[in-house]
Amino acid sequence: MALSRPLCWAYLVTVLSSWTALGDALPYDRAACQAPSANPLEGCPEGTLLVAADGTSANFTSIQDAILSLGDNGSTTATILVLPGTYSEQVNITRPGPLTLLGQTGAPNNASANTVTVIFEGLNVTEAGDNAHSSVLTVSPTLEASLTGMGPSGYPVPEDTPFGNEDFRAYNIDFVNDFSDYAVMPELAVSVSYANAGFYFCGFYSYQDTVYIGKLGNAYFYNSTIAGEVDFLYGFGTAWIQSSELLLRSCGGGITAWKGTNTTFDNKYGVYIHDSRVVKANSSLQIEGECPLGRPWNAQHRSIFANNYLDDSVAPSGYIAWGSTDPRTNNYTFMAEYNDYGPGFDLDARLAENLTKILTEEEYKEYSTVEVVFQEAFSGKFGYVGWIDTSPEA
Ligand SMILES: *[C@@H]1O[C@H](CO)[C@@H](O)[C@H](O)[C@H]1NC(C)=O
Ligand SMILES: *[C@@H]1O[C@H](CO)[C@@H](O)[C@H](O)[C@H]1NC(C)=O
Ligand SMILES: *[C@@H]1O[C@H](CO)[C@@H](O)[C@H](O)[C@H]1NC(C)=O
Ligand SMILES: *[C@@H]1O[C@H](CO)[C@@H](O)[C@H](O)[C@H]1NC(C)=O
Ligand SMILES: *[C@@H]1O[C@H](CO)[C@@H](O)[C@H](O)[C@H]1NC(C)=O
Ligand SMILES: *[C@@H]1O[C@H](CO)[C@@H](O)[C@H](O)[C@H]1NC(C)=O
Ligand SMILES: *[C@@H]1O[C@H](CO)[C@@H](O)[C@H](O)[C@H]1NC(C)=O
Ligand SMILES: *[C@@H]1O[C@H](CO)[C@@H](O)[C@H](O)[C@H]1NC(C)=O
Ligand SMILES: *[C@@H]1O[C@H](CO)[C@@H](O)[C@H](O)[C@H]1NC(C)=O
Ligand SMILES: *[C@@H]1O[C@H](CO)[C@@H](O)[C@H](O)[C@H]1NC(C)=O
Repeated sequence: MALSRPLCWAYLVTVLSSWTALGDALPYDRAACQAPSANPLEGCPEGTLLVAADGTSANFTSIQDAILSLGDNGSTTATILVLPGTYSEQVNITRPGPLTLLGQTGAPNNASANTVTVIFEGLNVTEAGDNAHSSVLTVSPTLEASLTGMGPSGYPVPEDTPFGNEDFRAYNIDFVNDFSDYAVMPELAVSVSYANAGFYFCGFYSYQDTVYIGKLGNAYFYNSTIAGEVDFLYGFGTAWIQSSELLLRSCGGGITAWKGTNTTFDNKYGVYIHDSRVVKANSSLQIEGECPLGRPWNAQHRSIFANNYLDDSVAPSGYIAWGSTDPRTNNYTFMAEYNDYGPGFDLDARLAENLTKILTEEEYKEYSTVEVVFQEAFSGKFGYVGWIDTSPEA
């Protein structure tokens, strides 16, 4: 259909303004919607779907059923309010349209008071064929786009794969992969590929590979808890962890294990941990000096720990090589810190080992805000942050 010029402009303006409205802060009072009340949907946006584990006057008893009811073809913004309870399921989001999951709570700024837990018992990924199958929550347009795959560049996602969700958000929900109580094999709590996802006041619990941010994945974590033991922040995409808690449930591999990707445009794929706390999960763990900040999953690994408190569990050298016969380090490997502090920050040991780059203020600047690291898929354009909630405190 050919639009006349004025109509075309009116159309463009509408599209652009509605696009702008999707980003940044939520356009309603999240605390009012999340607050427990006689009518749970009071204060929520029109059309919000209600999920309750026990089915009481709700639309759905599982989160996945609520998501499936939305279909994949709509671009409308959808909101789902989840009542307190434990939901035993895997949740998969393939739709491109914006979607927000809210856990009901009277304490919307306190992840420790969350009332909604999504739990999956995990599965044997060797038998299933790929780590992707184990994830509690998956945000990805297709199964193939979410596969980890093998080798230095991972699963070859088909080139014609479209981008998935442009604005997925979760507030006050805990995601638990309950396969084992120590690292046995990759078991994901969350998986984000070809999609943008923001997590606010959430929890992610597993032991190995807890958080996977796959190809063309952009993920932002705010005031959330991420618990793991081995390589528990891994992937190919871009992740920013802000004012959160990395809980060490033991040590193995590294906290971060990233695979860089060569692109024709500059990229800042990597994991950035800011203003957070890296601490052992409880005082009975005897892991002093044993947890490395990370190791290069391929020789283009990029990660930065900036302005974090590190407890005494962190290894004096900071980062480590992948292995002694296969170090996977070269001049592209970027394993860095800026202004970390606490008993786990041993500057002399870092310098002696010479694997951890201690950034100057000038070097850090290139990675110091979400605007300079997040990129639009395919174009590589920086400053792609409309999907991030910039004022998440309710
Ligand atoms: C969901 O439940 C609410 C409250 O019971 C109701 O008002 C609404 O119509 C239901 N929505 C759908 C799509 O069934
Ligand atoms: C859109 O999705 C809904 C729900 O899955 C489905 O009923 C409908 O047929 C779909 N429409 C198109 C045009 O694909
Ligand atoms: C957050 O919630 C936890 C668990 O209910 C509670 O112990 C803690 O005091 C709360 N923190 C704040 C700042 O209210
Ligand atoms: C996973 O499956 C493989 C292949 O069947 C088997 O060898 C292995 O023992 C299983 N691991 C666990 C932890 O169940
Ligand atoms: C979610 O995706 C995983 C991985 O593809 C798959 O094993 C699982 O069956 C999916 N679950 C749902 C509820 O669609
Ligand atoms: C959330 O932020 C508050 C205030 O900075 C902090 O005390 C708390 O530990 C943070 N919670 C998590 C889970 O990181
Ligand atoms: C401490 O954390 C570890 C790892 O999660 C767990 O196995 C152990 O049971 C915890 N101990 C206590 C006393 O909570
Ligand atoms: C990316 O390019 C560098 C430099 O040419 C090379 O060393 C590296 O192996 C390439 N990485 C991948 C994953 O292709
Ligand atoms: C790494 O070294 C190669 C070969 O000396 C050089 O071409 C390349 O520019 C260097 N890359 C970086 C990121 O310093
Ligand atoms: C540290 O490693 C870099 C390469 O990453 C090398 O250029 C430099 O000479 C090393 N410094 C020392 C003191 O060994």
